[in-house]
Amino acid sequence: MAGNAAPTMRRAAPAKRLASATRSVAQFTRLPDSAAIAIGVHMTPPVRPNPATQTDATEALREHWDTRARASTSDLDRVDTSARSQRWRFDMFARFNSVADASVLDVGCGVGDFYAYLRAEFPSATYDGVDISSAMIERARSLHPGANFSATDVLAARPKRRWDFVVAFGVHNVQLPGAETLLWDLLTRQFELCDVAAHVSLLTDRFGGFGPTALPWDPAEVLRRAFALTPYVSLRHDYLPHDFSLTLYREPLADRSPPWATSRAGVPGSAMLSDEVVG
Ligand SMILES: C[S@@+](CC[C@H](N)C(=O)[O-])C[C@H]1O[C@@H](n2cnc3c(N)ncnc32)[C@H](O)[C@@H]1O
Repeated sequence: MAGNAAPTMRRAAPAKRLASATRSVAQFTRLPDSAAIAIGVHMTPPVRPNPATQTDATEALREHWDTRARASTSDLDRVDTSARSQRWRFDMFARFNSVADASVLDVGCGVGDFYAYLRAEFPSATYDGVDISSAMIERARSLHPGANFSATDVLAARPKRRWDFVVAFGVHNVQLPGAETLLWDLLTRQFELCDVAAHVSLLTDRFGGFGPTALPWDPAEVLRRAFALTPYVSLRHDYLPHDFSLTLYREPLADRSPPWATSRAGVPGSAMLSDEVVG
């Protein structure tokens, strides 16, 4: 369903079990296996300063994350984060969105931490995870054999369906070539693929304690650009000192009456609101 007409936010979804989320991944174009990439060579981001094309930038990213997935000795190190950050990022998304019976596409799913979170907290949600790194996907599959993970680039693939929520946690936290283009290309794609909302977590430039490879973003600028996608935007900058998140909705969460409905008759609570307050 496209545009703001989609009646999705509080609809009754059929009961779906995350544990049995074994639907086919044929909805995506599979990527070639990149298992030939050297294992455990180094942990330094590959340096390709001015990628000529988005394809070059995607290849640099894939190489970085494949290398990291293979060289790391812990799963948190593989996805370059902490348990505390993961918990808060996932919680802040789930606390403010109706994920209980929702379908979720996790873009840049890494080793599947958000799958594990959903399975524990919202087992009726359905989940699909995609990542450009086949090494991450291999690891995710071995950790969560019942889940649906796919080595897919959603910018190149043409999924044949949509999801209620399309999320991307921590995908844009590392300085790599083409990062800004990737953020906006990916967020636009996430929004195209969602029925309810697209969600992204980012590092904030209001925090001063990052290492040299971190990629902090200006929240005000990110919000300004997000308005080009939808007016229904929620920015949270209140849950971790170094993080913020942006949720882009297809519809307003509260008042979904069409703009031409000027009469307040029948609107709950309208008698309590003066014209001055309501405008
Ligand atoms: C820091 S990890 C975060 C993993 C996971 N979201 C989490 O929170 O645990 C970033 C992941 O994003 C993936 N990634 C980066 N760019 C991507 C893209 N264009 N499409 C899909 N995955 C991407 C990387 O391969 C990597 O596994």
